[in-house]
Amino acid sequence: METELSKQLGIEHAIFGFTPFPEVAAAITRAGGFGVLGAVRYTAPDDLARDLDRLHGLAGGKPYGLDVVMPAKKVEGVTEADVEAMIPAEHRGFVRELLARHGVPELAEGEASGWRITGWMEEVARGQLDVAFDYPIKLLANALGSPPADVIERAHDHGVLVAALAGSARHARRHAEAGIDVVVAQGYEAGGHTGEIGSMVLVPEVVEAVAPLPVLAAGGIGSGEQAAAGIALGAQGVWLGSLWLTTEEADLHSPALTAKLLAAGSGDTVRSRALTGKPARQLRTAWTDAWDDAAGPGTLPMPLQGLLVAEAVSRIQKYEVGELLGTPVGQIVGRMNSERSVRAVVDDLTRGFERAVTRMNRIAGRSAT
Ligand SMILES: Cc1cc2nc3c(=O)[nH]c(=O)nc-3n(C[C@H](O)[C@H](O)[C@H](O)COP(=O)(O)O)c2cc1C
Repeated sequence: METELSKQLGIEHAIFGFTPFPEVAAAITRAGGFGVLGAVRYTAPDDLARDLDRLHGLAGGKPYGLDVVMPAKKVEGVTEADVEAMIPAEHRGFVRELLARHGVPELAEGEASGWRITGWMEEVARGQLDVAFDYPIKLLANALGSPPADVIERAHDHGVLVAALAGSARHARRHAEAGIDVVVAQGYEAGGHTGEIGSMVLVPEVVEAVAPLPVLAAGGIGSGEQAAAGIALGAQGVWLGSLWLTTEEADLHSPALTAKLLAAGSGDTVRSRALTGKPARQLRTAWTDAWDDAAGPGTLPMPLQGLLVAEAVSRIQKYEVGELLGTPVGQIVGRMNSERSVRAVVDDLTRGFERAVTRMNRIAGRSAT
């Protein structure tokens, strides 16, 4: 799977893997793809540096990237405490009642909530960037909009390509105008924050909107045949997030969650605001049902919802409370039926891609006669 972009980055296969785990990112890179470490969970720069050390050490001199979450709208001078103070008592009460109803134990005295998503705060993301540019990252991706102009300039000064996720052609055009280098066209099927347009419709629209910028197809890719479809639609590669969650290298810290992912079908996800306040595809659980229920108080906007639920999510994860236990994941979860090594997944993708290309060539050859 060689494209202009894969050649530019010096990788064997145009397979880009987003993952929160350094071991998975390194394994994707070692297998000939391009591993991208998600930085949103790192609130302390030292933790990110430790995991980038790990990724760098394991990547064997091959290229990798980093993904940050800088929202397009600036939230300047607002601290986490300011945001906490804006959360209505009714919503806090709803969380308390929901956890009590499902018998979710408290965290131990003084135990910090392990699940935080304050990486969206610009000052946190900027701290991550200060660390990241000390490493030879080859690509910097941004999740929620175009990164600020000075960040793009800084990346370019370091020879780092800048990518941004887009859920519509309009978003993609905005990224192109901002001066980014690669657009990730991420369809409705995808895990995590996602828009309303399916990948089949979105990818060619984005390719046309930003040509000649390279586009990566994302959302709903779990086989080489699906990767081939993305390339056929004009993409220069594919960007996958969900598929790595059930690899042997991924450490979800929860056998129950892994089992849930392995058992889930493609209809078992929902696009819900329950985790962050913005629509994000995730496993459908009693947690998402409660938040999406018209009888409840409804979700708060980002970033309030994320702060409101952080401790609750940590408790649910720590005590593996089955009916509430979830994670962002895409519809492709229906194909994630066994734990495999990252290398086995990449090999499977490239083999499926070759099968699809052979089949298409045969069909094209036949129809030409
Ligand atoms: C568990 C999980 C967490 C994610 N978190 C982020 C994130 O922090 N930043 C980001 O750019 N994309 C994030 N995504 C989206 C991925 O980058 C990717 O676009 C998406 O997973 C592709 O669709 P797929 O899930 O069908 O493979 C996340 C996806 C998953 C499954």
